Order: sequence, then C-alpha cells, then structure tokens
Amino acid sequence: MSDLHQTVTTGFQTRFDTEPTGLWSAPGRVNLIGEHTDYNDGFVFPFAIDRRTVVALGVRADRLVRVASSFAEETVELSLDDLTPENLEGWSAYPLGVAWALGQFGADLAAVAGFEVFIDSDVPIGAGLSSSAAIESAVAVALNDVWQLGLDRRVLARVGQLAENRAVGAPTGIMDQSASLLGRADAAVFLDCRSLAAEVIPLGFDAAGLELLIIDTRVSHAHSTGGYASRRASCEKGAQLMGVLSLRDLDVDDLARARDLLDDETFRRVRHVVTENQRVLDTVRTLREQGPTAIGALLDASHVSMRDDFEISVPELDLAVETARATGAIGARMTGGGFGGAAIALTPHALIPAVTAAVTAAFAARGFGTPDLFVVRAADGAAREQD
Ligand code: GLA
Repeated sequence: MSDLHQTVTTGFQTRFDTEPTGLWSAPGRVNLIGEHTDYNDGFVFPFAIDRRTVVALGVRADRLVRVASSFAEETVELSLDDLTPENLEGWSAYPLGVAWALGQFGADLAAVAGFEVFIDSDVPIGAGLSSSAAIESAVAVALNDVWQLGLDRRVLARVGQLAENRAVGAPTGIMDQSASLLGRADAAVFLDCRSLAAEVIPLGFDAAGLELLIIDTRVSHAHSTGGYASRRASCEKGAQLMGVLSLRDLDVDDLARARDLLDDETFRRVRHVVTENQRVLDTVRTLREQGPTAIGALLDASHVSMRDDFEISVPELDLAVETARATGAIGARMTGGGFGGAAIALTPHALIPAVTAAVTAAFAARGFGTPDLFVVRAADGAAREQD
C-alpha cells in the first residue's frame, strides 16, 4: 500500500470510526501549451502528472456529509439539505462544491446518501499544478461511483469546473479537471474546449531522452482574485468588439483588423490567445510529425507571448525560463494561470542536474526565494484504487 493510501485509510478510520467504502485518486496536471485559451473556447494540451490526491470515501445511512483531510485539523460537517455554494468556505468548498455541482448535472441530491471523505495529496499546493482540480476530480469519480450516477468523464470535468467557479469562486476554465480526468500515462490530452472533443497523444519524452522539469518559483498565486479575472474580462471585451462569440473564432489573419479596432492592451490580450491557439495546433502537429525534440521553439514563443502580450509572468518565472534555456533546456515557459506558480523546462535527461543547479544559483543571486525543481511524468487520470 502506498503512503497516501495508508494515510487516507488511517485518517478515515480515526476521524470517522468506521471503514471507507473505497479509495479513489486523481492527479494534478501540468499544461504543456495552450494558456488562457480554455475559457476562450480554444485548444489546450495538458497532461496528468505523477502526483496525486487520494480520497477514502464511505457512504452513510443518513443525509450527513463530513469531510476531513491531512491538511486541516477540522472536520467539516453539514446536511445534504444545506449544500449550497453560499454555505461553503475554505478548503472544504472543493470537495463539497463537487457534491453540490453533481446535483446541477443530474444527481438527485434529495435522494442520495450522505458520505464521509478523508483527503490527502502529494500534489504541491500553489505551484500551478492544479491541486484543486485533483481534489475535485477524485471526489467526482468517487461520488459518481457510490451514487451510481454513470456520468461521463467529460461531464465530471464540467462538474469540477462548476464547483471551482461557484463554490470556490475562481472563474477558471475546463482544462485542469479535463487533464486530471482524461490523462493517460506518457501522453497529453489535446482538448478542444468548445466541443470538449479530447484526443490522447503520446509524448515520447522517454524515447527522446527528455524530461519535463517543473520549476516551482514558490511565488504564490490565487485565481479567485485579481489578474486572472481581469484577463478573462479583457478577452470577453475583445471578442465582443470583434463581433465573435469567443476568441476561438479568430485566427492570425484577423489580427490586422483587431489592431485597427481595439485599444493596444485589449489587442495584445487578443493576440496572445489567437497565437496561442495556433501554437497548440502547431505543437500537436510537430509532435506527431517530428517528435518532442522539435517543439522547443513553440514553448519559448508561448512564454514570450504571456510575458509581453498577456502580461501574466513575474520576474521569477522569467528568470526560471531564461536560465533553464541558457543551461540546456530545449524549450521553456511559464505554465498555468500565471502571476506566480511554476515554469516548465523540456530538458535532456542528462542536463537535469545542471539546469537545477543553475536555476537555484540564479534565484539566489537575484535575492529570490529558493525555488523547488522536480521532474514530472505523464500519468493516468482519475481512478478507483485497488483496495
Ligand atoms: C488556471 C485555470 C485554467 C486555465 C489556466 C490558464 O490553471 O484553472 O482553467 O485557464 O489557468 O491556462
């Protein structure tokens, strides 16, 4: 039994004085490319990583819901009858928000049984690796099983997103939950966020001698406030002024018209999204035709676009990217929502120690806090664990 299996099982037994019905898990994710494109109905190309959230969940005979975790002392308790987004707060809004959101997607919350859940995770929090989507997806698959809802994984992704939007209050898109639910080992998920058509595409990093290095700047970010929401608003404004439903409906040929029509800031926000969608398509094609060693320039271009046009990078992310590229990474970019979190560097296996040392030294020389660097592998999505 893995450590997380052990801690959730023991945690469940200690807090609830009974045995769980089963264990379920879901991974965090890293986005290879396609940033701030999901809520513009565009394309993303993330993968599930080998860091997971595990939940032990048991059904009850009454209508009570109780949630506990290894990251908080408290056990949060309420009745299914009181489950509304307004009643939820703090970390428990993630699992309980999912239970509420399932009700919005067909679960009859007046008829289902209460439950108890204990949560633990080795997805780093605040690193931009979607520790929140990992919780949401693990709870979503668990409740989908025990409540026998039979919901498709793409619907479960929308359940997690609704929980995040309404119960947590972060206006995020569909990417993170989709990666956590649809991911496969050694592959990334090419997702059309409009149709939700998803294709699992082999990455081939191992065969090419490449690793994906995460550089967690440890600069914290929160998407329920500030920059994320304002970028989303700029995209909506740009789409409206350009007369389209969403920025997905524009392509690079439309940018000349956009420059004439939009103020400079809105134009640059639009240009990021339009060119980033194209970069996702180019990355998928390049990966298929030439393999992963050929996608580095697209990762680099994505970073420049986020730094200069979308303006969501921070000095720590820029330094991480520049130093990784200067010391042997074949492509690097900030990943996730921005304003902190992590960068990724696609790096030849043998150069991982050199890049790690160089980035750590560069951060120290600039007086930045110590970053955390580690390699992630593409892993399978959410699943019921063997008991
Ligand atoms: C966060 C959100 C995602 C997505 C990214 C940016 O991770 O949760 O929905 O918008 O930012 O690509």
